[in-house]
Amino acid sequence: MPTILVSGGAGYIGSHTVQALIERAFKVVVLDSLITGHRGAVPSQAIFYEGDISDAELIGRIVKDHQVEAVIHFAARSLVGESMLKPDLYFYENTAKSNGFISTLLRQGVNKIVFSSTAATYGVPEEMPISESAKTEPINPYGASKRMIEQSFYWLEQAYGLKWIALRYFNAAGASLDGSIGEDHTSETHLIPLVLKTALGQREAISVFGTDYSTPDGTCIRDYIHVVDLAEAHILALEALEKDLESGAYNVGTGKGYSVREVIDMAKKVTGLEIPVLDASRRVGDPDILVAKVEKIEKSLGWKAQHSDLKTIISTAWQWHKCHPLGYE
Ligand code: UFG
Repeated sequence: MPTILVSGGAGYIGSHTVQALIERAFKVVVLDSLITGHRGAVPSQAIFYEGDISDAELIGRIVKDHQVEAVIHFAARSLVGESMLKPDLYFYENTAKSNGFISTLLRQGVNKIVFSSTAATYGVPEEMPISESAKTEPINPYGASKRMIEQSFYWLEQAYGLKWIALRYFNAAGASLDGSIGEDHTSETHLIPLVLKTALGQREAISVFGTDYSTPDGTCIRDYIHVVDLAEAHILALEALEKDLESGAYNVGTGKGYSVREVIDMAKKVTGLEIPVLDASRRVGDPDILVAKVEKIEKSLGWKAQHSDLKTIISTAWQWHKCHPLGYE
């Protein structure tokens, strides 16, 4: 089996993808700075390097020593709110460093990359569900930092033959089905982990950011995609690159959305616990509805969400949070 280098493989989506790669008998090398990732999230079968994607000497050594054939590139900052406050950090970490990383890889002869992109590249879409051909006008530096790398791929392909697939994730959620790994962000901002932390009594209430949106119950609707399904999309993308499928960007979502209230109600059902709710004002930059059109990935990569019904998402997330109330320690 080929060796795959996974940057950011100790992060949330990265670690679930590493687990899936190992289950398929790929040889996996993880490179992670551990600034936001967790060493404990990386399975023992993966070779681990603590380091930064900007370290060209280290990357050269890894590629040579392990005969890396393809890369899945997750390493990035991913907080929309933080990106609004520190856009320079996002353009440096996500855009400049990724560009350097890819350039180093190409010089080492590695020309296949699966890139961790985001629905935030679309900004405020004109049509719902959102298709890959929709205009991409990000409304925050996080989305812009990722979009710039997608754009660079087009030119790198022409100049150096880079083969690439950018996966535009919608709302990643859930945890591994065996309960071994899950979501642990140092400053948590995402809805599902915050709801479950409230169920655990670690927070007094879950705030609902906005109750007057143009949706049936007035709260925002998002397309939640199970992290295990997301991991599977990376494997299929790698295989597609091996088979020389055309490069491009793909949505990874389910095509179905749930409101904030529906998420909280399901969490009450799954946990059987009281979850105090506080109606709060809108959070800046939240569109009413974000739902993916998923025909492209289903047809071209043969991918289909298998675990992304809301109950499975919340049950697996709950199993993880219940057993790891303090995350990876
Ligand atoms: N929300 C609350 N209360 C909270 C937290 C969130 O009501 O305490 C709401 C948000 O306002 C939003 C929904 O729950 O309507 C989901 O919010 P998340 O923060 O969980 O996720 P986002 O939709 O804001 O963002 C996610 C990823 C981003 C990515 C984006 C792409 O975290 O990285 O999807 O659509 F850019």
